[in-house]
Amino acid sequence: MKIRKAVIPAAGFGTRFLPVTRTIPKVMLPVLNEPAIQFSVREAADAGIEHIVFVISRGQEATNDYFHPVPPLEQALEERGNTELLNEMRDISSMVETSVVYQDEQLGLGHAVLMAKDEIGGEPFAVFLPDDIFYGDTPAIADLIGVFSKHGSSVIAVKYVPDESVPNLGIIDPEPLDESVYRIKGMVEKPRLEDAPSNLAVIGRYILTPEVFTALENAKPGAIGEIQLTDAIDAVRTEQGAFACEVTADHFDVGTPLGMLKASVYAALRRDDMSGELKEWLKTTLNC
Ligand code: G1P
Repeated sequence: MKIRKAVIPAAGFGTRFLPVTRTIPKVMLPVLNEPAIQFSVREAADAGIEHIVFVISRGQEATNDYFHPVPPLEQALEERGNTELLNEMRDISSMVETSVVYQDEQLGLGHAVLMAKDEIGGEPFAVFLPDDIFYGDTPAIADLIGVFSKHGSSVIAVKYVPDESVPNLGIIDPEPLDESVYRIKGMVEKPRLEDAPSNLAVIGRYILTPEVFTALENAKPGAIGEIQLTDAIDAVRTEQGAFACEVTADHFDVGTPLGMLKASVYAALRRDDMSGELKEWLKTTLNC
Protein backbone atom coordinates (compact mmCIF):
# COMPACT_ATOMS: atom_id res chain seq x y z
CA MET A 1 0.00 0.00 0.00
CA LYS A 2 1.27 3.47 -0.83
CA ILE A 3 2.25 5.83 1.97
CA ARG A 4 1.09 9.25 0.77
CA LYS A 5 1.25 11.40 3.87
CA ALA A 6 3.67 12.18 6.67
CA VAL A 7 3.62 14.09 9.95
CA ILE A 8 6.63 16.10 11.11
CA PRO A 9 6.31 17.23 14.73
CA ALA A 10 8.24 20.50 14.90
CA ALA A 11 6.63 22.54 17.69
CA GLY A 12 8.23 23.70 20.94
CA PHE A 13 10.63 26.29 22.27
CA GLY A 14 13.88 24.65 21.17
CA THR A 15 15.18 25.25 24.70
CA ARG A 16 18.52 23.56 24.13
CA PHE A 17 19.29 26.04 21.35
CA LEU A 18 18.35 29.25 23.15
CA PRO A 19 18.90 32.11 22.50
CA VAL A 20 18.75 31.57 18.71
CA THR A 21 15.38 29.82 19.01
CA ARG A 22 13.77 32.91 20.59
CA THR A 23 12.56 33.84 17.11
CA ILE A 24 13.79 31.09 14.76
CA PRO A 25 12.13 27.65 14.83
CA LYS A 26 14.64 25.00 15.91
CA VAL A 27 14.03 22.91 12.79
CA MET A 28 15.07 25.88 10.63
CA LEU A 29 18.58 25.95 12.11
CA PRO A 30 21.16 24.93 9.54
CA VAL A 31 23.15 21.78 9.08
CA LEU A 32 25.86 23.64 7.19
CA ASN A 33 23.52 25.63 4.90
CA GLU A 34 20.34 23.55 4.86
CA PRO A 35 17.64 23.78 7.52
CA ALA A 36 17.55 20.56 9.52
CA ILE A 37 13.94 19.89 8.53
CA GLN A 38 14.85 19.77 4.86
CA PHE A 39 16.57 16.41 5.46
CA SER A 40 13.26 14.87 6.56
CA VAL A 41 11.25 16.51 3.80
CA ARG A 42 13.68 15.41 1.12
CA GLU A 43 13.77 11.88 2.52
CA ALA A 44 9.96 11.81 2.41
CA ALA A 45 9.79 13.13 -1.15
CA ASP A 46 12.46 10.66 -2.32
CA ALA A 47 10.33 7.82 -0.92
CA GLY A 48 7.24 8.99 -2.84
CA ILE A 49 5.41 10.78 0.01
CA GLU A 50 3.22 13.55 -1.41
CA HIS A 51 1.91 15.54 1.52
CA ILE A 52 3.52 16.63 4.76
CA VAL A 53 1.71 17.94 7.81
CA PHE A 54 3.94 20.14 9.97
CA VAL A 55 2.95 20.30 13.64
CA ILE A 56 4.20 23.69 14.80
CA SER A 57 3.76 26.31 17.53
CA ARG A 58 2.20 29.71 16.82
CA GLY A 59 4.76 32.03 15.22
CA GLN A 60 6.73 29.19 13.61
CA GLU A 61 5.14 29.61 10.17
CA ALA A 62 8.61 30.10 8.62
CA THR A 63 8.92 26.30 8.73
CA ASN A 64 6.05 25.92 6.29
CA ASP A 65 6.82 29.06 4.23
CA TYR A 66 10.26 27.65 3.48
CA PHE A 67 8.75 24.92 1.30
CA HIS A 68 6.78 27.41 -0.82
CA PRO A 69 8.08 29.48 -3.77
CA VAL A 70 9.87 32.80 -3.11
CA PRO A 71 9.04 34.73 -6.35
CA PRO A 72 11.40 37.75 -5.93
CA LEU A 73 14.33 35.40 -5.26
CA GLU A 74 13.51 33.25 -8.28
CA GLN A 75 13.17 36.33 -10.45
CA ALA A 76 16.53 37.68 -9.32
CA LEU A 77 18.28 34.36 -9.96
CA GLU A 78 16.66 34.15 -13.37
CA GLU A 79 17.85 37.67 -14.28
CA ARG A 80 21.36 36.79 -13.18
CA GLY A 81 21.25 33.62 -15.26
CA ASN A 82 22.03 31.49 -12.20
CA THR A 83 20.09 28.49 -13.49
CA GLU A 84 21.67 25.93 -11.18
CA LEU A 85 20.69 27.76 -8.01
CA LEU A 86 17.30 28.66 -9.49
CA ASN A 87 16.55 24.99 -10.14
CA GLU A 88 17.68 24.11 -6.63
CA MET A 89 15.29 26.72 -5.21
CA ARG A 90 12.41 25.47 -7.35
CA ASP A 91 13.07 21.89 -6.24
CA ILE A 92 12.62 22.91 -2.61
CA SER A 93 9.12 24.24 -3.23
CA SER A 94 8.03 21.42 -5.52
CA MET A 95 9.10 18.40 -3.44
CA VAL A 96 5.80 17.92 -1.59
CA GLU A 97 2.54 19.62 -0.67
CA THR A 98 2.48 20.87 2.89
CA SER A 99 0.00 21.93 5.53
CA VAL A 100 0.19 23.11 9.10
CA VAL A 101 -1.52 22.20 12.34
CA TYR A 102 -0.80 23.82 15.69
CA GLN A 103 0.18 22.22 18.97
CA ASP A 104 -0.70 24.88 21.53
CA GLU A 105 0.35 22.91 24.60
CA GLN A 106 3.59 20.98 24.90
CA LEU A 107 2.13 17.70 26.16
CA GLY A 108 4.55 15.34 24.43
CA LEU A 109 5.39 13.72 21.11
CA GLY A 110 2.26 11.56 21.12
CA HIS A 111 0.10 14.63 21.64
CA ALA A 112 1.90 16.40 18.77
CA VAL A 113 1.17 13.53 16.37
CA LEU A 114 -2.48 13.45 17.50
CA MET A 115 -2.86 17.08 16.34
CA ALA A 116 -2.48 15.81 12.74
CA LYS A 117 -5.33 13.28 12.98
CA ASP A 118 -7.82 15.13 10.77
CA GLU A 119 -5.19 15.97 8.15
CA ILE A 120 -4.11 12.33 7.89
CA GLY A 121 -7.57 10.74 7.90
CA GLY A 122 -7.93 6.97 7.90
CA GLU A 123 -4.81 5.84 6.05
CA PRO A 124 -1.37 4.58 7.11
CA PHE A 125 1.18 7.38 7.32
CA ALA A 126 4.79 8.19 8.10
CA VAL A 127 6.22 10.17 11.02
CA PHE A 128 9.59 11.93 10.82
CA LEU A 129 11.29 13.36 13.89
CA PRO A 130 13.33 16.16 12.35
CA ASP A 131 16.09 15.96 14.99
CA ASP A 132 17.13 12.64 13.46
CA ILE A 133 18.86 12.96 10.11
CA PHE A 134 20.52 10.35 7.94
CA TYR A 135 23.10 10.23 5.21
CA GLY A 136 22.79 7.17 3.02
CA ASP A 137 21.88 5.91 -0.41
CA THR A 138 18.43 4.60 0.50
CA PRO A 139 16.34 6.94 2.62
CA ALA A 140 15.58 5.28 5.97
CA ILE A 141 11.85 5.74 5.44
CA ALA A 142 12.00 3.78 2.18
CA ASP A 143 13.28 0.73 4.11
CA LEU A 144 10.38 1.07 6.54
CA ILE A 145 7.84 1.34 3.72
CA GLY A 146 9.27 -1.87 2.27
CA VAL A 147 8.68 -3.72 5.57
CA PHE A 148 5.20 -2.19 5.91
CA SER A 149 4.22 -3.44 2.43
CA LYS A 150 5.04 -6.95 3.58
CA HIS A 151 3.43 -6.97 7.04
CA GLY A 152 0.83 -4.18 7.01
CA SER A 153 1.38 -3.06 10.61
CA SER A 154 3.48 -0.39 12.36
CA VAL A 155 7.17 -0.26 11.42
CA ILE A 156 9.76 1.68 13.38
CA ALA A 157 13.37 2.55 12.66
CA VAL A 158 15.82 1.37 15.31
CA LYS A 159 19.54 1.35 15.93
CA TYR A 160 21.88 -0.06 18.61
CA VAL A 161 22.84 2.59 21.16
CA PRO A 162 25.33 2.56 24.06
CA ASP A 163 24.04 1.96 27.62
CA GLU A 164 24.21 5.64 28.58
CA SER A 165 21.72 6.59 25.82
CA VAL A 166 19.10 3.96 26.75
CA PRO A 167 17.29 6.00 29.48
CA ASN A 168 16.71 8.88 27.02
CA LEU A 169 15.12 6.92 24.20
CA GLY A 170 12.32 4.50 23.25
CA ILE A 171 13.61 0.92 23.51
CA ILE A 172 12.17 -2.21 21.89
CA ASP A 173 12.05 -5.85 22.91
CA PRO A 174 13.15 -7.44 19.62
CA GLU A 175 12.59 -10.87 18.09
CA PRO A 176 14.89 -11.24 15.04
CA LEU A 177 12.96 -12.01 11.84
CA ASP A 178 14.76 -11.26 8.57
CA GLU A 179 18.03 -9.48 8.04
CA SER A 180 17.76 -6.11 9.86
CA VAL A 181 14.07 -6.74 10.61
CA TYR A 182 12.61 -7.57 14.03
CA ARG A 183 9.17 -8.40 15.33
CA ILE A 184 8.52 -6.11 18.32
CA LYS A 185 7.47 -7.97 21.47
CA GLY A 186 7.19 -4.79 23.55
CA MET A 187 8.29 -1.16 23.66
CA VAL A 188 9.15 1.13 26.54
CA GLU A 189 9.85 4.85 26.55
CA LYS A 190 12.92 6.08 28.42
CA PRO A 191 13.42 2.97 30.62
CA ARG A 192 15.97 2.71 33.40
CA LEU A 193 18.95 0.81 32.02
CA GLU A 194 18.26 -2.19 34.29
CA ASP A 195 14.65 -2.40 33.00
CA ALA A 196 15.49 -2.03 29.29
CA PRO A 197 14.72 -5.09 27.17
CA SER A 198 17.62 -4.37 24.76
CA ASN A 199 19.88 -1.63 23.43
CA LEU A 200 17.83 -1.27 20.25
CA ALA A 201 16.48 2.27 20.32
CA VAL A 202 13.73 3.92 18.34
CA ILE A 203 15.10 6.60 16.04
CA GLY A 204 12.82 9.15 14.48
CA ARG A 205 11.15 7.33 11.58
CA TYR A 206 7.85 5.48 11.78
CA ILE A 207 5.15 4.03 9.52
CA LEU A 208 1.93 3.88 11.52
CA THR A 209 -1.62 2.71 10.97
CA PRO A 210 -4.46 5.18 11.69
CA GLU A 211 -5.51 3.16 14.77
CA VAL A 212 -2.64 4.88 16.58
CA PHE A 213 -4.81 8.01 16.80
CA THR A 214 -7.42 6.20 18.90
CA ALA A 215 -4.62 4.89 21.12
CA LEU A 216 -3.26 8.44 21.46
CA GLU A 217 -6.71 9.78 22.38
CA ASN A 218 -6.88 7.19 25.16
CA ALA A 219 -3.24 7.55 26.24
CA LYS A 220 -2.34 8.63 29.77
CA PRO A 221 0.83 10.63 30.43
CA GLY A 222 3.81 8.25 30.45
CA ALA A 223 7.56 8.79 30.77
CA ILE A 224 8.50 12.34 31.94
CA GLY A 225 4.75 13.04 32.38
CA GLU A 226 4.16 13.34 28.63
CA ILE A 227 1.79 11.64 26.16
CA GLN A 228 4.27 9.25 24.53
CA LEU A 229 4.02 8.01 20.94
CA THR A 230 5.85 4.85 22.01
CA ASP A 231 3.04 3.92 24.45
CA ALA A 232 0.35 4.35 21.77
CA ILE A 233 2.29 2.27 19.23
CA ASP A 234 2.73 -0.43 21.87
CA ALA A 235 -1.03 -0.43 22.55
CA VAL A 236 -1.78 -0.87 18.83
CA ARG A 237 0.92 -3.57 18.65
CA THR A 238 -1.05 -5.86 20.95
CA GLU A 239 -3.85 -5.90 18.31
CA GLN A 240 -1.97 -5.57 15.03
CA GLY A 241 1.67 -6.52 15.72
CA ALA A 242 4.60 -4.21 14.99
CA PHE A 243 8.00 -4.45 13.35
CA ALA A 244 11.34 -2.70 13.58
CA CYS A 245 13.86 -2.08 10.88
CA GLU A 246 17.50 -1.53 11.79
CA VAL A 247 18.85 1.43 9.92
CA THR A 248 22.48 1.37 8.93
CA ALA A 249 22.77 4.79 7.24
CA ASP A 250 24.95 7.37 9.05
CA HIS A 251 22.72 8.95 11.67
CA PHE A 252 22.97 12.29 13.51
CA ASP A 253 20.86 13.65 16.33
CA VAL A 254 20.72 17.37 15.57
CA GLY A 255 18.56 18.11 18.62
CA THR A 256 21.54 19.57 20.50
CA PRO A 257 24.07 22.24 19.47
CA LEU A 258 26.92 19.71 19.56
CA GLY A 259 24.99 17.18 17.45
CA MET A 260 24.17 19.94 14.99
CA LEU A 261 27.83 20.95 14.83
CA LYS A 262 28.94 17.35 14.17
CA ALA A 263 26.37 16.98 11.38
CA SER A 264 27.55 20.28 9.87
CA VAL A 265 31.19 19.19 9.94
CA TYR A 266 30.21 15.86 8.39
CA ALA A 267 28.24 17.68 5.67
CA ALA A 268 31.20 19.96 4.92
CA LEU A 269 33.59 17.00 4.74
CA ARG A 270 31.35 15.50 2.03
CA ARG A 271 31.66 18.60 -0.14
CA ASP A 272 34.52 18.87 -2.62
CA ASP A 273 34.58 22.66 -2.34
CA MET A 274 35.02 22.60 1.46
CA SER A 275 36.58 19.38 2.68
CA GLY A 276 40.22 20.21 1.82
CA GLU A 277 40.27 23.56 3.58
CA LEU A 278 38.27 22.23 6.55
CA LYS A 279 40.65 19.30 7.08
CA GLU A 280 43.65 21.64 6.94
CA TRP A 281 42.04 24.01 9.43
CA LEU A 282 41.10 21.15 11.80
CA LYS A 283 44.64 19.78 11.62
CA THR A 284 46.15 23.13 12.53
CA THR A 285 43.56 23.95 15.19
CA LEU A 286 43.71 20.52 16.82
CA ASN A 287 47.46 20.44 16.41
CA CYS A 288 47.53 16.91 14.99
C1 G1P B 1 11.59 10.66 20.93
C2 G1P B 1 10.83 9.34 21.11
C3 G1P B 1 11.80 8.23 21.46
C4 G1P B 1 12.88 8.13 20.40
C5 G1P B 1 13.57 9.50 20.21
C6 G1P B 1 14.50 9.42 19.01
O1 G1P B 1 12.11 11.05 22.19
O2 G1P B 1 9.86 9.50 22.13
O3 G1P B 1 11.10 7.00 21.52
O4 G1P B 1 13.82 7.16 20.80
O5 G1P B 1 12.62 10.54 19.98
O6 G1P B 1 15.14 10.64 18.76
P1 G1P B 1 12.57 12.56 22.50
O7 G1P B 1 13.91 12.73 21.86
O8 G1P B 1 11.52 13.45 21.92
O9 G1P B 1 12.65 12.65 23.99
